[in-house]
Amino acid sequence: MTDPPYGRHEYTEAQQAKLRSGRGGVWRIPPSFDGHPRAPLPRFTTMTKADLDHIREFFTTWATALYPALVPGAHVMIAANPLVSPYIAMGLGEAGLERRGEIVRAVMTMRGGDRPKNAHEEFTDVSVMARSQWEPWLLYRRPIECKTVADNLRKYKTGGLRRISGQQPFGDLILSHPTRKSERAIADHPSLKPQSFLRTIVRASLPLGEGVVLDPFAGSGSTLAAAENLGYESIGLERDPQYYKLAKTAIPKLAVLETSVGPAQRRQAE
Ligand SMILES: C[S@@+](CC[C@H](N)C(=O)[O-])C[C@H]1O[C@@H](n2cnc3c(N)ncnc32)[C@H](O)[C@@H]1O
Repeated sequence: MTDPPYGRHEYTEAQQAKLRSGRGGVWRIPPSFDGHPRAPLPRFTTMTKADLDHIREFFTTWATALYPALVPGAHVMIAANPLVSPYIAMGLGEAGLERRGEIVRAVMTMRGGDRPKNAHEEFTDVSVMARSQWEPWLLYRRPIECKTVADNLRKYKTGGLRRISGQQPFGDLILSHPTRKSERAIADHPSLKPQSFLRTIVRASLPLGEGVVLDPFAGSGSTLAAAENLGYESIGLERDPQYYKLAKTAIPKLAVLETSVGPAQRRQAE
């Protein structure tokens, strides 16, 4: 379960130094439409064909390294964005992981929707790109080893997804919201994901509620906090010493935050 870096640059030391100093680099502050300051976002529209091929190669290498750490039937859920997700998906497929669908996190973002630069008044009715209102999460699985999912569940406790309830299966459309201020105050990471969404997908990832959740790009530890909240065991890896330090203080606080599992799911069920 992870939210990886997609580009060559955005989490390199040089780009992080630029982000932290607020000057230059791939991180941009989106325009404010209501007077409230926006959190910085990396720009993916400037990626070249070579950058995109690099993403595919990176994810082939990464998923090949990940494969032996997964038990047969273990699910892999990866945050993406619509511009790079096909390249990530190709990499995962090349490493032997099996595509099981895509989760749509419905969320209003500040990406896209703008009129052509320096020609706003000339082209008042035009947006250069669609305003992005969803985030794809790629859903993959290490192929099951047993003949049936039931046998795989008995042997490895994996192969399926945990249902929301007896009546409601886990669904691939999850109504979400931008990460709340209360969470940002605890974990000041530019890619912080909200607990309500993470708790929903982390819960689904272990069909019997047993096993270990791995986040190899843990950032502020939000996935690990969601696992902690659910009583799941988890392991995280983070390269940046500042984010690692942040995660150590943020995980226990995010884990106890009152954002119950699946408020989004309840809305969907109503
Ligand atoms: C998109 S962020 C994840 C943020 C996370 N979703 C959160 O809510 O805090 C990706 C993270 O991966 C880390 N990272 C980049 N390359 C890495 C590597 N090779 N090994 C471990 N972590 C890495 C970055 O420092 C960054 O914190």
